[in-house]
Amino acid sequence: MDYKQYISSKLNIEGVSESDVMSFIETPPNTEMGDYALPCFKLSKIMHASPVQIAENLKSAFSCDDIISECNAVNGYLNFKVNRNGFARSVLSEVISKGDKYGASDIGSGKTVCVEYSSINIAKPFHIGHLLTTVIGSSLYKIYKFLGYNAVAINHLGDYGTQFGKLIVAYKKWSSEKQVLEGRLKELSRIYVKFHEEAKIHPELDDEARRYFKLIEDGDKESNELFLMFKKITLEEVEKIYKLLNVSFDSYAGESFYSDKMAPIVEELKEKKLLKNSDGASIVDLEEFGMPPCLILKSDGSSLYATRDLAAAIYRKKTYDFYKSLYVVAYQQNLHFKQFFKVLELMGKEWAKDCVHVAYGMVSLESGAMSTREGNVVLLEDVINKTIEKAYKVIEEKNPNLENKEKTARAVGTGAVIFSALQNNKIKDIVFSYDKVLSFEGETCPYVQYTVARCNSLLSKVGEPKDYNDKDLTIEEYEVINQLSKFKDAIIYASEKYEPSAVTRYALDLATLFNKFYINCKIAGEDENTKNLRLSIVKSVKITLTNALRLLGIETVEVM
Ligand code: ARG
Repeated sequence: MDYKQYISSKLNIEGVSESDVMSFIETPPNTEMGDYALPCFKLSKIMHASPVQIAENLKSAFSCDDIISECNAVNGYLNFKVNRNGFARSVLSEVISKGDKYGASDIGSGKTVCVEYSSINIAKPFHIGHLLTTVIGSSLYKIYKFLGYNAVAINHLGDYGTQFGKLIVAYKKWSSEKQVLEGRLKELSRIYVKFHEEAKIHPELDDEARRYFKLIEDGDKESNELFLMFKKITLEEVEKIYKLLNVSFDSYAGESFYSDKMAPIVEELKEKKLLKNSDGASIVDLEEFGMPPCLILKSDGSSLYATRDLAAAIYRKKTYDFYKSLYVVAYQQNLHFKQFFKVLELMGKEWAKDCVHVAYGMVSLESGAMSTREGNVVLLEDVINKTIEKAYKVIEEKNPNLENKEKTARAVGTGAVIFSALQNNKIKDIVFSYDKVLSFEGETCPYVQYTVARCNSLLSKVGEPKDYNDKDLTIEEYEVINQLSKFKDAIIYASEKYEPSAVTRYALDLATLFNKFYINCKIAGEDENTKNLRLSIVKSVKITLTNALRLLGIETVEVM
């Protein structure tokens, strides 16, 4: 039952479409006032009357029924109460019958959304700075799919540039196939760092690096084989982390994929008279728009980061015909995205408006401790493993007899890392604290996972819910059911604002209301009717929290 739709269809206000009325209807935070409210000031202009007057008039014209049991005009608001028994029945039966599809919809059907995220750099360590792009992007991808969009997950690999020439030089001078295959990313980092040290004293190394990069570009066999080995090793290493985080991609087309797709774009820029010469380099002047120029070609004719992004954007439009194309990239790159979106617009690509930079803040560790060991970077893998280890210790303390301790520790540990990254508004910088994210009290992942385990244990001890007859609801029962009904809204909000945190927030609120219900409402030992209603609530909460966590990439555990 869509109450907002039902109420707006019954209101039938002249001069205002039903869908507009529907979008004005709110759910008041305090359910004592009503379950839905129409703020009449939104209608003042159209209806030429005061909100108080409008509310009064609408109220007299409104007739209550089996679905809406009360309608009151209060201070310019029109408040509605729904028939709670009918409401409870419709919500609980919808959740239980839809199960793992509860909250899903088809509002995205026929529309493609490209979500670019993670976009790691080949041969560079996967550090904590990649956490947010990876989990925000992955969650948005899952959310869009759940809403029926055709979502495409893209990892725009950083696999192009002179640094690969440098690596080849370094490899030839100070490493070997054996060392690289054994030492993997650590070995690649080591020789990369060494290259920079040596190049300070022997600047001719830089020329050699440029020569090797040119060889890669020109299709030289040996250079390409080495480059592919570096790429393979990097992908194998990050794949492990993606697996832990339940992250996946449909395309790994990185920067090098666009090597042969840039020339026509440079041509197009020339034809459209957008290219200017600046000391031999080719730029698009953006002064008029208050931005520095966008660099397209260096004076030696080689392409730049922005050139590849232009090619990638155009390729994605051609290949996927997207409705929206998202770039989940740190806010440090704000200017880059503004510039290249502007260039697309100047090129006459009307779809430039559908490209969105989904910017996010920075992550740092509360204890800088780990950063010393790895040079200057904190490896994401180390953070996840340490969180899993700590989760294992907590389990040993709290529940030493638990079966499958390792599996549980993995779900709790990785869940805690993901959840804490998705907990706040994405633009906020976050400080990661092992103890905070693993706490069972407060707004944490273990708290939500524990709530699911609690539901599970109730269902296995007391039994699965059976049918019940309507009964007056307690406030705690009602509030859980009311929160259950808002799941779809939370997911849609998350998709519209690119904010998985709306789903995190939702899960925390549902867990909190459920635990209040759990403390105040007995289940076993109650009369059959009450027991079955309450078991239906328990089951619905379990389903909904599991679905919410799945959209974030987090697993639940049966027992904890
Ligand atoms: N690889 C880049 C980095 O680590 C991020 C790529 C962002 N995406 C893009 N289309 N420019 O900084």
